[in-house]
Amino acid sequence: MGALLKELRRNRFVAMIAILAALGGFLFGYDTGVVSGALPYIGKGLGIGSFGESWIVGSLLLGACVGAVISSWLADAISRKWTKLLAGCVYVAAALGSAFAPDVVTLCVARFVLGLAVGTASFVAPMYIAEHSPRSVRGAMTTFNQFMITLGILIAYVADFALKGFAHNWRWMFGFGAVPGVALAVAMVLVPHSPRWLIEQGRRREAAGVLAHSRQPDEIDAELDEIEEVVGTQRATGWRAVLAPRVRALLVIGVALAIFQQIIGINTVIYFGATILHYAGYSTNASLGEAVYLGIINWVGAGVALLIVDRVGRRPMLLIGTIGCCLSLIVLGFFFLEGTGFEHRHAGIMGLGPVMAYLLFFEIGLGPMFWLLIAEIFPLRIKPKAMAAATVANWLFNFLISYFFLDLTKSIGKDWTFWLYAGFAACAVAFFFLRVPETRGRSLEEIERAVREGALAAPAKRSTGLAPGSSGAA
Ligand code: BGC
Repeated sequence: MGALLKELRRNRFVAMIAILAALGGFLFGYDTGVVSGALPYIGKGLGIGSFGESWIVGSLLLGACVGAVISSWLADAISRKWTKLLAGCVYVAAALGSAFAPDVVTLCVARFVLGLAVGTASFVAPMYIAEHSPRSVRGAMTTFNQFMITLGILIAYVADFALKGFAHNWRWMFGFGAVPGVALAVAMVLVPHSPRWLIEQGRRREAAGVLAHSRQPDEIDAELDEIEEVVGTQRATGWRAVLAPRVRALLVIGVALAIFQQIIGINTVIYFGATILHYAGYSTNASLGEAVYLGIINWVGAGVALLIVDRVGRRPMLLIGTIGCCLSLIVLGFFFLEGTGFEHRHAGIMGLGPVMAYLLFFEIGLGPMFWLLIAEIFPLRIKPKAMAAATVANWLFNFLISYFFLDLTKSIGKDWTFWLYAGFAACAVAFFFLRVPETRGRSLEEIERAVREGALAAPAKRSTGLAPGSSGAA
């Protein structure tokens, strides 16, 4: 921790960039988290049933898929910085649109537009932060985005709880998102372009100016030469380049991380946290309050991840976190075992135990590691496209899981729903163990060179220091 603080002091400029860029993460968290507390009131206010409710949740998630695709092009064409500024403006317009929606269709359209911004910010923020960060703190800086996602979720829960007695409260819940949206747009005017994007555009002098804020004078030229070298070796930027064999292997890892992140059921807990607690015997009002505790645990977990990721490494955190999620889900399933009366006898604080453990493990594992790894493993030239592909998979599975969760609990029971998630988590552990490389302590260019040499994704090649299980110096 002391070492991290020293590094942060040395890298104050990059830390400031991470804080401003991660406002996008905050909005991602807020806008996805706020809906769980708002739904019961929208139901009453606009008179909709569970079908309409599913679409209010789902429209944002579908919008996020479309937003990620559009931004895969924008992030290259107009830069990461201006893409995020655009996302900030869309956040503001769509938050106001949701707040003033006269009917459910308008609300769904506004939430879809909001999704465009959420899908954009979800991957452009970690990409932009990672591209600014020196290797020694890249993990912490990029994980800061997840820390802000979880803060956004927490603030959303607090807003839901605080506003529960007010008239038109759900309109305020949605409308509040406009404030950080404005902050994001203004912040993006102030921050510099990514030095790696500048090099791609042939703007070396400007890139040197940006690096001068965070690197020693004698480090700048070497880093710029290294970036130019990797940019020079890969000219192709189209989808065909993304599907070239070496990158394809990484794409499989990125997309698998994306899908596993969702199919172990995280958003079942995030969006339906109050509902799960309700199953466990809490009243609707009490469970909104308890959801705040869940938000705090979630946030603390991401904070711990941020502090240790550059020391512990990506792989150990991913493995330990996912094993922990798997075990917590198994226990949660028992808690909901139908017909035993267990769920009623132990309703209360015990029901919270496995849910809290699950969140903690998710936040030190798959939560931040997915976004961090996809910001690290892909070559610069095709990074926006490859990251967008993983991001689309993530939002699509987020949509499927959230849309079908309630149906699933009805058809196979709550116990088996959680055990199904546990089964997916067990598969995830095996996949990560066999396929996910360690990237700690390497510059993005060293990682890219390893990809070119076919050394990054091959588990057997331990000698490169980039194969699974290896540990580069932080
Ligand atoms: C996931 C979201 C999830 C959040 C919870 C993110 O990494 O992509 O789907 O809601 O973590 O903290």
